[in-house]
Amino acid sequence: MRILAIETSCDETAVAILNGIDDVVRVESSLVRSQIDIHAAYGGVVPEVAAREHLEMITSMIARSVRQDGAGIDAIAVTAGPGLAPALRVGVEAAKTLAWSWKKPLVPVCHLEGHIYANWIENTPEFPVLALIVSGGHTELVLMRDHGNFERLGETLDDAAGEAFDKVAKMLGLPYPGGPAIDRLAAQGNPKAFAFPRPMIDRDDAMFSFSGLKTAVMYELRRNDVRMNDESFRADVAASFQEAIVETLVEKTMRTAGRCMPKSIILAGGVAANALLRDRLKAAAEARGLAMSLPPFQYSLDNAAMIGAAGYFRAVRGVSADPLTLHVDPNMDI
Ligand code: KG4
Ligand code: ZN
Repeated sequence: MRILAIETSCDETAVAILNGIDDVVRVESSLVRSQIDIHAAYGGVVPEVAAREHLEMITSMIARSVRQDGAGIDAIAVTAGPGLAPALRVGVEAAKTLAWSWKKPLVPVCHLEGHIYANWIENTPEFPVLALIVSGGHTELVLMRDHGNFERLGETLDDAAGEAFDKVAKMLGLPYPGGPAIDRLAAQGNPKAFAFPRPMIDRDDAMFSFSGLKTAVMYELRRNDVRMNDESFRADVAASFQEAIVETLVEKTMRTAGRCMPKSIILAGGVAANALLRDRLKAAAEARGLAMSLPPFQYSLDNAAMIGAAGYFRAVRGVSADPLTLHVDPNMDI
């Protein structure tokens, strides 16, 4: 089954073609056009600007990916939520138009499900799977007993992990998006320089909270405001913050694994690109004899290949939507 996949939920316009056979999906092409440079000037994503940029790019990106008559495409998968409503609408309307005119099934996909399914690209994690989703908008632990079966075990009470990275980066004067900038700066710092809190790490549940950690960093920076131009001080703060958040994510994931006994653990969402998190979670899972799956690095950040992978498994189950009435759902839940 060949899938055309479209993703426009935030600040990446993405179009991909995937080929699925049984339990294996292969990416034939994956185009991602990032708008980061445009939004960096505003310090964050501006929804209307994102939508305008998606509109300008989407048709030519689809034209580079498929034949004009849709020959060879069996279904169209599109992110229907969660995300920025004006941005989501661009991808969804494009997908509806193609599905209607080509008379092909239209498969709506949840963006978080897409992040999870980045782990099924050229890989087959064994169920039950425990997924740690860490993105700009979400931090969740989800148990999957089979394809399309999601039980949310816990989530963040306040900031998402990626949001904490972005906010701390801003305090350190780093550019948007903050996650990759902290990842790079932390590599030169001492992770033990500051003992930042590990929020809720001892609680025996799957809930997270990162606003206290963010506030602790803010107070540390205020106390040392004369050192803000000192690169090694800023690197120490970045490394200590990263250490605290990664340790919390890994510890809570492993505690949850101890309760729900999965066969494999997978990492999903933009923060899955973080080098320390990838290494630590892999080491912790392997120490417990659990299989660990990391998404291929280029499919950790927003892309359409992951939406196509999730869409393929949905299409196999016969999931489809009416191409004339599908609506975006900015608050869509996994
Ligand atoms: O999944 P994603 O691309 O978009 C959402 O669905 O939210 O995630 C973006 C988030 C941003 O908060 C960004 O700072 C974070 O992922 N991120 C990282 C890294 N790369 C991206 N956080 C930590 N380390 C990274 N290397
Ligand atoms: Zn995402």
